[in-house]
Amino acid sequence: PLKTFAMAAFAAGAMATSFLAAAEPVEIKFSHVVAENTPKGQTALKFKALVEERLPGEYKVSVFPNSQLFGDNNELAALLLNDVQFVAPSLSKFERYTKRLQLFDLPFLFKDMDAVEKFQMSDAGQALLGSMKRKGIVGMGYLHNGMKQFSANEPLKLPTDASGKKFRVMASDVLAAQFDAVNAMAVKKPFSEVFTLLQTRAIDGQENTWSNIYSKKFYEVQSYITESNHGVLDYMVVTSAAFWKGLPADKRKIIKQCMDEALAYGNKIASDKNAQDRQLIIDSGESKVVELSDSERQAWIDAMKPVWGKFEDQIGKDMIDAAVAANK
Ligand code: LMR
Repeated sequence: PLKTFAMAAFAAGAMATSFLAAAEPVEIKFSHVVAENTPKGQTALKFKALVEERLPGEYKVSVFPNSQLFGDNNELAALLLNDVQFVAPSLSKFERYTKRLQLFDLPFLFKDMDAVEKFQMSDAGQALLGSMKRKGIVGMGYLHNGMKQFSANEPLKLPTDASGKKFRVMASDVLAAQFDAVNAMAVKKPFSEVFTLLQTRAIDGQENTWSNIYSKKFYEVQSYITESNHGVLDYMVVTSAAFWKGLPADKRKIIKQCMDEALAYGNKIASDKNAQDRQLIIDSGESKVVELSDSERQAWIDAMKPVWGKFEDQIGKDMIDAAVAANK
């Protein structure tokens, strides 16, 4: 009888253990459209590592890169349906939810990434994190990628070189207007389609950062990249108010801390990543980097800057002024 008792106790213990083991960690999904080997890809993985280290067994983060789970056309809708809990679209992709972020697309607004950082950290920049509150979207923080360059199959030195050509843009009216301003055609397409559009010559060119041009192999299907630094490609990491408020307060605090640290990490590596990828593109010999003289660059500024006036009312002159002030 003693033996039977011991066996029963052991069986009960085993059952209790397996019951505990069956309490799966809560899954948090983070979906994005770029490669893992990019500032955004690395930030998402950092966030995963931090959450799983600090809330072991309680939460796990599944990262879905390369538009695997959701792409440009549906990631924000999916966020609001709680099908994904974190996304980090470029600041150009929030137009349906707020017009205020169109600010970041204005051509030649920021002189470099230091100015971008300074503006984002200012009161005006921080206020924009809450610009989609009424839509149920919570801004967690900004994430850098870097400055955009133009690529094409012919060298673009002057605005007239772009005339009549077709360029892919993100879903942003400001970016479309930027190409209108040089008599080019802008086509709004999701990031996941860009390589094929370039490869099949359905479009002539596009604009992006070095890290995106490298990691998505655009340089293999574009003969020239003009080092224009004409605009910024940064992100806002967002979650839904419903998910965020639904988290227990103590867990929310830890998860926010993990995100802040992941963003600080991503923001620190972004410029090195772009510099490295620029060099890898040059070393590949597949695409030639076109440098602009001061007067050539000025010609692009003169052609594109009138776009600001068209969007001033939607964006707010106060915001534009605050951004310009960050260049000092
Ligand atoms: C693009 O669509 O070109 C970029 O926004 C992709 C990204 O997320 O960096």
